[in-house]
Amino acid sequence: MSPAEQRIQAPEELSREELELDRSLRPRRLEDFVGQEAVKDQLAVSIAAAATRGEALDHVLLAGPPGLGKTSLAQIVAAELEVQFVQTAGPALERKGDVASFLTALEPRAVFFVDEIHRLPRALEETFYPAMEDGCLPITVRQGAGARVVTIDLPPFTLIGATTRTGLLSTPLRDRFGIQHRLEHYGRQDLAQIVRRSARLLGVELEDSGAAAIAQRSRGTPRVANRLLKRVRDYAEVRHSGVVTGEVAEAALDLLEVDEEGLDRLDREILRAICEKFRGGPVGLSTLAVAVGEEQDTIEDVYEPYLLQRGLLERTPRGRAATRRAFEHLGLAPPGPPTLL
Ligand SMILES: Nc1ncnc2c1ncn2[C@@H]1O[C@H](COP(=O)(O)OP(=O)(O)OP(=O)(O)O)[C@@H](O)[C@H]1O
Ligand SMILES: [Mg+2]
Repeated sequence: MSPAEQRIQAPEELSREELELDRSLRPRRLEDFVGQEAVKDQLAVSIAAAATRGEALDHVLLAGPPGLGKTSLAQIVAAELEVQFVQTAGPALERKGDVASFLTALEPRAVFFVDEIHRLPRALEETFYPAMEDGCLPITVRQGAGARVVTIDLPPFTLIGATTRTGLLSTPLRDRFGIQHRLEHYGRQDLAQIVRRSARLLGVELEDSGAAAIAQRSRGTPRVANRLLKRVRDYAEVRHSGVVTGEVAEAALDLLEVDEEGLDRLDREILRAICEKFRGGPVGLSTLAVAVGEEQDTIEDVYEPYLLQRGLLERTPRGRAATRRAFEHLGLAPPGPPTLL
């Protein structure tokens, strides 16, 4: 595997193999969706209420870092409501007509899923307002002197927006989602359960200690857990009898350069840059991005949330700073007080 493949990828960079893995391991019903109990409980109530009334579910905004289950949850909501699921993504919608053709073709109460909704062109956001609030779409027909506005009535529908960054959504759009949930990184128990479920589906012989080892190192992210399970299985088959024991998993993960904190190579490079090149920071995100040769967005969406959650990184008004734990984790001495000349 090349170093690039060992990194956590942004959604648009997922390989075919990974998309296939995502699809085959995706939980189909709420009961298969592990963890995120508060989110599941609240959604279950909203779903049951909407179903009983025979109405479309209120619009739902799902936020959180990549690979935590936003797309899965959106599909599950449609499955639980037993309604049509139609999917697109913010960057794929360019003109008002694109939105109109999706919305007018929906079956009543359908789930319309817009992934990466923060990348919707600003001008199009306004197209969604009347659609979300009043179930109609005003469109201008003909240009010039003969132009007039006609209002198309839409079937009732549920917009589910997914975003890795709520901060990039305009307030008027965000406020139109009646239901808003943020997915958090998963705990080790939940991840171990996800890995065991995936192992069953993939026909991998996995011991509990193997599941625990993978869970510990999957940066709180189900997609990473599933990917590591596949890599560990390869290792178990090639170097051992195929059974994933704790020891085999640890050895395979060492080979993949995933450490006990679950950090991969770029995670460590980010921390090392802050600690060594910038004396622990604070350092601006753009400077940091240049120092590690990675896109600013990728650092902010993919890497930073986990480093923050593990208490290895801090966001300060003047930029990102490494914590004492980060120095300890890298085996570096924390910087002393600034020397006065
Ligand atoms: N709670 C969960 N229980 C079981 N498996 C899960 C769960 N959440 C995610 N997964 C697994 O992780 C994979 C990735 O999840 P999903 O595609 O839903 O994430 P996402 O949040 O939409 O990511 P992205 O932001 O990259 O689009 C799924 O295919 C599924 O196998
Ligand atoms: Mg997704």
